[in-house]
Amino acid sequence: MTTSVTINSVTKRFGDTTAVNNVNFEIAKGEFFTLLGSSGCGKTTLLRMIAGFMRQTSGNISFGDRIIDDVPPHQRNTGMVFQNYAIFPHLTVFDNIAYGLRARRRSAADIEKEVRRMLDLVRLGHLAHRRPRELSGGQQQRVVLARAMVIQPDVLLMDEPLSNLDTEMRVHLRSEIRSLQRQIGITTIYVTHDQEEALLMSDRIAVMSGGQIEQIDTPHRTYSEPQTLFVAGFIGENNLLPASIIATDADGTTLIELPGGGRIKGTGFGNRQAGSSCTVSIRPQDIDISPIDGSLVDAFQGTLFDLQFLGGALKLIFDIGAERLLTVSLQGRRGMEMPIIGGRYLLNVSRQAVRIFEQGAQS
Ligand SMILES: Nc1ncnc2c1ncn2[C@@H]1O[C@H](COP(=O)(O)OP(=O)(O)OP(=O)(O)O)[C@@H](O)[C@H]1O
Ligand SMILES: [Mg+2]
Repeated sequence: MTTSVTINSVTKRFGDTTAVNNVNFEIAKGEFFTLLGSSGCGKTTLLRMIAGFMRQTSGNISFGDRIIDDVPPHQRNTGMVFQNYAIFPHLTVFDNIAYGLRARRRSAADIEKEVRRMLDLVRLGHLAHRRPRELSGGQQQRVVLARAMVIQPDVLLMDEPLSNLDTEMRVHLRSEIRSLQRQIGITTIYVTHDQEEALLMSDRIAVMSGGQIEQIDTPHRTYSEPQTLFVAGFIGENNLLPASIIATDADGTTLIELPGGGRIKGTGFGNRQAGSSCTVSIRPQDIDISPIDGSLVDAFQGTLFDLQFLGGALKLIFDIGAERLLTVSLQGRRGMEMPIIGGRYLLNVSRQAVRIFEQGAQS
């Protein structure tokens, strides 16, 4: 039976390195939960502790109500797709996938049916009789995927399962993994450094950095409501600008001054004392442009420095002064007037889209 998973104050040290630093979260039954972060942030280490291949230095891991710290890996009923997790070289594709079902003493008819279903799913039906050495790397990876999912594990653990595949197969398999996961409702913990994959597949994403969790949220909220400067810069394209705090209103909005002297309002995190420096994030698609004679409320000025026509979208680079550039992304519309390079424009942005972070300016 699929299960919830709780990570309670888990830390893992290797000598002086703290690979995972006091991590806490709960994954609901049937949830697709992704650990997202760049290389070395502790994703694999955390997943290996959940699988039982590695013991945490401190903290507990539970499946449902049961603490599983002393349960060996083969008794945790997890399905695993790890980086470099080998398949059996002497078994055919079919027998590799059937392995876990045979170990569970399922009937021959069941095994035939379940393995065929998996083979279809990963598009390997025509290669069922082959051995691993007669497969490409991507095909081998798909055998690993099929083998992990066919046993209907309590928890499915996947560590960059699509990283060795070509784009077409990756796009195919990520939607297949997701729809299969929904159908059978297996709690899934998925590791990737690919934000597009994470945004597309997950119910929730935990963004990790330096062994810690920066934010746990739905893909949409992770993108639109980043809680830390790291998340604001890591997920999606963003303008990160140094700024200074002018004043904070009773309604919680804060007036800031941008490089070049423009003043706008935003919503903030942490200390927002007048005079202190901060970093603001503004998504390129949250900015509108208008002729310079418009109102200056929630707007500042810039000179168009470069324009890239991308078919459906228009990418504009503005010089806002003080040697700072700002990217604006506009949706292309029939008949729209092309902005003019060298022209001066008002840049409008809603205060909700201006997020103010306490950390000092990044240059
Ligand atoms: N067995 C080990 N001994 C010592 N240090 C280790 C060990 N395993 C991992 N580390 C260190 O712990 C940190 C986290 O490693 P981990 O493999 O969890 O990263 P990751 O997020 O999976 O990275 P990647 O995206 O490159 O796979 C790294 O600094 C790594 O060098
Ligand atoms: Mg890893």
